[in-house]
Amino acid sequence: KKVVLFASGRGSNATALYEAMRDGRIWGEAAALVCDMPQAAIIQQAQQWGLPIILADRKKFSDQHAFETYILEKIAPFQPDLLCLAGFMRILSAYFVAAYEGKIINIHPALLPSFRGLHAQRQAFEAGVKITGCTVHFVTAQMDDGPIIVQAAVPVYESDTVQTLAERILRKEHPSFIKAVALFCADKLQIKGHTVYGTDTGE
Ligand code: GRF
Repeated sequence: KKVVLFASGRGSNATALYEAMRDGRIWGEAAALVCDMPQAAIIQQAQQWGLPIILADRKKFSDQHAFETYILEKIAPFQPDLLCLAGFMRILSAYFVAAYEGKIINIHPALLPSFRGLHAQRQAFEAGVKITGCTVHFVTAQMDDGPIIVQAAVPVYESDTVQTLAERILRKEHPSFIKAVALFCADKLQIKGHTVYGTDTGE
């Protein structure tokens, strides 16, 4: 399967997915990187990989529709089977999502439906929860609301800061995202209503 990676910054999730595709843990091939931030570290990384880069600097577009239309036009030639939003910090509208219904997967650094939106790690920390984690889910027109594919939990310690908690969550994000994308690329996922089947390890 052909996968287009979307990232906005450090790109550790995009890198984890890229490496898993390169070594066959995911039956997929990275086709391109879409990035909205010209200075993002992931751009240098993609250059080293020799991966085509689609730079869509949001500031250069008059509005969201022009921004999304540009991205759709640039990724179409790759005919992607899957779009992975790996720390992509832009909301995508129903117009964009409709073009790839059921083929966009996002990672969110909290246990949805808790703590939707930005700075989810901070939201959890400030809520005083004892358990938080990450969620890999299909993207729908509603933000952070699509069918859940994989979740992983982490404890919150009294000694934690938002940073130490975010780092603990991030360590679970990479294997969670890899597992979800590997299942998708092996055609093992089915969405029935709001539930994704095919992820059960049978315990
Ligand atoms: C991750 O914590 C992700 O969940 C959130 O932003 C961070 C991106 O990290 N959306 P990276 O760019 O994948 O390293």
